[in-house]
Amino acid sequence: MNLLCCHLSWGEQMKYNAGLIDEYEEGQLKSFRFDDKYSVCVVKQHTQFKAFRNACPHQFVPLSDGFLGENTITCCLHGWKFDLETGACDVAPKMVLPIYSTLIEDNTVFVIIEDEK
Ligand code: FES
Repeated sequence: MNLLCCHLSWGEQMKYNAGLIDEYEEGQLKSFRFDDKYSVCVVKQHTQFKAFRNACPHQFVPLSDGFLGENTITCCLHGWKFDLETGACDVAPKMVLPIYSTLIEDNTVFVIIEDEK
């Protein structure tokens, strides 16, 4: 797990540093904990960076232990699959995985999270 404490406030959104682009391998699931509050998984897939909450909506298992598919993540515990664009679950429609925006600046990946106060 990567622990990065640096972030920039961006209105009511928070912008977190998720490391350099060059530190990512295609399909590698990287986990972060930001502000000791947000558990996030980031993955590079087909030159795009995708970020989502690193906790399965079912029983909070880390999705970084799951299996990456074509624009999906499958939980390792019960096999539920989540769409990485919408967060939709293939089994339980009410279980939506929070998806976060990413931003590339200066060869660095940032995750944008709406503050959940
Ligand atoms: S804990 Fe993830 S599908 Fe059950």
